[in-house]
Amino acid sequence: MTEEPELALFAEPWQVESPESCHFYHTMDIPGLGTVAGHVDLRPNAAAYLGNCDFAGRRVLEIGPASGFLTFFIEARGAREVVALEVSDRRIWDIVPRPDQDMAALQADRCNHMRLIKNGFWLAHHALGSTAKVVYGDASHIPEELGLFDIAVLGGVLLHCRDPLACLEACGRMTTEAIIITEQAMPWLEARAEQPLKWLAPSPENKVWDVWWRFTPGFFRNVLPLYGFADVRIVRHQQISLEKSYPHFTVVGRRARSQGEQAA
Ligand SMILES: C[S@@+](CC[C@H](N)C(=O)[O-])C[C@H]1O[C@@H](n2cnc3c(N)ncnc32)[C@H](O)[C@@H]1O
Repeated sequence: MTEEPELALFAEPWQVESPESCHFYHTMDIPGLGTVAGHVDLRPNAAAYLGNCDFAGRRVLEIGPASGFLTFFIEARGAREVVALEVSDRRIWDIVPRPDQDMAALQADRCNHMRLIKNGFWLAHHALGSTAKVVYGDASHIPEELGLFDIAVLGGVLLHCRDPLACLEACGRMTTEAIIITEQAMPWLEARAEQPLKWLAPSPENKVWDVWWRFTPGFFRNVLPLYGFADVRIVRHQQISLEKSYPHFTVVGRRARSQGEQAA
């Protein structure tokens, strides 16, 4: 009998020979290579970054893995399966339109940079013996063929998405237990952290093209119940970026269990 082919939507693992062709977003300890230095070092506080959630036995959808530190961390915490969805070469981020800049050049630069990051992901994937699967696509259009997940993780992704609610809606449709969202807490929003605020990052005065939004935790506290994740918890933590420590928040939204489930 012919075996059913693996869904074509999963990427074939890339063969990456050398770290020279890689860029690491995360600082990571890679067997055979040692510690590679990245832009952020989540190692000291990774559990808090993920809201101290339990991944054992769970099927997890991770949006935007970059170098994959969280992918491999979640796997090591006993997830049944991790599927990581990363941007494709064809459609790199929702770049902010900037008529004053060469958009085609920005797009090409970002694509090349992401290739190096993807190389790093696959190098680490191989070295760690990871079985995580990868889909190249877009967070607002998650293929339904991927099936259902217990947990969806969106770490540092929604700030880059023009329509963060479309991403949340897409994740919510395929997630049965919990959605985990992590963002940096911006100092100018902290005094109103409880309020449901989404702040536009680009302005005529700055040249920001890679970040659309900054959020308060209150924004997600109010938004997640709209998609059925009514039991919301917020964890505050510090994370290291380029050797400095920055405040972050993680919002964990759980689907409210039915009375029958609670009694079981
Ligand atoms: C700042 S990095 C965060 C990496 C990691 N999740 C973390 O929390 O450390 C943002 C990641 O989101 C990805 N990303 C941005 N927009 C995306 C989209 N529309 N769909 C899927 N991934 C996206 C980027 O390519 C990158 O891998």
